[in-house]
Amino acid sequence: MMAENQVLPSTASVTAGGHLAIGDCDLVALADEFGTPVVVYDEAHLRATAREFVHAYRSLGCTAEVIYASKAYFGLAVLRLLRDEGLSIDVASGGELHAALAAGFPPERIYLHGNNKTPREVDEALAARVGTVIIDGFDEIALVADAAARHGIVQRVMVRVTPGVDPVTHSAIATGQVDSKFGFSLVGDAQRGVAAVRASAHLELVGLHAHLGSQLFDLSVFGPTARVLADFAAEVGADDIGVVDLGGGLGVAYTSGHAPPSVAEFAQAQATALETAFAAHGLPTPKLLCEPGRAMVGRAGVTLYRVGGIKPVPGIRTYASVDGGMSDLLRPMLYGAVYEPVLADRPEAPADRTYRVVGKHCESGDILVAEARLPELAVGDVLCLPATGAYGVAMASNYNGQPRPAVVFVADGAARLVTRRETYADILGRDRV
Ligand code: LLP
Repeated sequence: MMAENQVLPSTASVTAGGHLAIGDCDLVALADEFGTPVVVYDEAHLRATAREFVHAYRSLGCTAEVIYASKAYFGLAVLRLLRDEGLSIDVASGGELHAALAAGFPPERIYLHGNNKTPREVDEALAARVGTVIIDGFDEIALVADAAARHGIVQRVMVRVTPGVDPVTHSAIATGQVDSKFGFSLVGDAQRGVAAVRASAHLELVGLHAHLGSQLFDLSVFGPTARVLADFAAEVGADDIGVVDLGGGLGVAYTSGHAPPSVAEFAQAQATALETAFAAHGLPTPKLLCEPGRAMVGRAGVTLYRVGGIKPVPGIRTYASVDGGMSDLLRPMLYGAVYEPVLADRPEAPADRTYRVVGKHCESGDILVAEARLPELAVGDVLCLPATGAYGVAMASNYNGQPRPAVVFVADGAARLVTRRETYADILGRDRV
């Protein structure tokens, strides 16, 4: 069973005692030791994925840079690991910038994003000397230029455009379409944006950026995107368009029915699209930047919950309640995302029952898995929800006063706490009465 599982981290195995293990650590024992809910990251899987991305672009012979989109999860342990693997980092807020700096990313490897960067965020970024700011709209040009002047620097910037390509994904995570809050529209705005950036003595234009959307399975979208960018570069003059960022978005498998493209296929699609599009205008291929978030950390992480109550509603369904829910994993509620739990206590028992796995929050919509096929459950069992490493804890809340989960790294039979569970004191700690 474990050999075929494409949803669990790659080191998943079954212990001699019949429990599910990751990184040679028994997940039932981890739940006992660290409590639940707890997010467990497979360190070997994280490292292997980072290397797979770097290798994929390198082996194509293209000049490329892999930039981790830290919004997917910005815990310091993950950031440090990815820094050590030589990745760059995309931050979309002052908080993510703070985390990137705390994790020791060299400032020149930091890319600042955001459709409404505040004056304070821009100032913090320039004070830290971040390598590149992605300009997202007109109002930001003066903001960044003035800050650069104040800091006595010329800031490298890229201009983000919306290429008008439908990425075929959930509407809430599609960004490349013209009707978007992000970037400059290519119908008029982008030309003026580029001109305004070029006119500033404190900004140095280095390239263009486009991010289509997230959880993409269809790689054919990069052809038209690269064409639109190359056409635009040819129109406005490509001398200072030495870098093109085609964004992140590579999808991951949340269930065994999902078959996302491989990292190598994703890299190949981006690289080929870029080269072909620029060559059509007789232009050299720019340096390629990519910004994976979900595909970098999604499958490396699982969440462990403990089953606290089982309620059959005769003739309708059986509910299994766990000790987390929408506060640690909002994706099912927000996007209708489907997950496939594995029973950590008996992973090899036949999954011949159907349960609705629900959280502990005061809402009927707090459903983690609407129709989960599982072996018969008992109160106290540990449920493992695979592929929760991206946009899980990163989007966690304190709804119902629920402390946010602990995070644990596992490798070679050893587990270490990398983020402690929140306490009640943490939750009230900011209140002043
Ligand atoms: N670059 C930019 C500019 C982005 O806006 C994003 C994601 C990424 C890169 C990384 O995309 P990824 O490789 O992770 O697909 N909370 C949602 C996902 C929102 C993604 C927002 N931007 C979810 O849970 O599905």
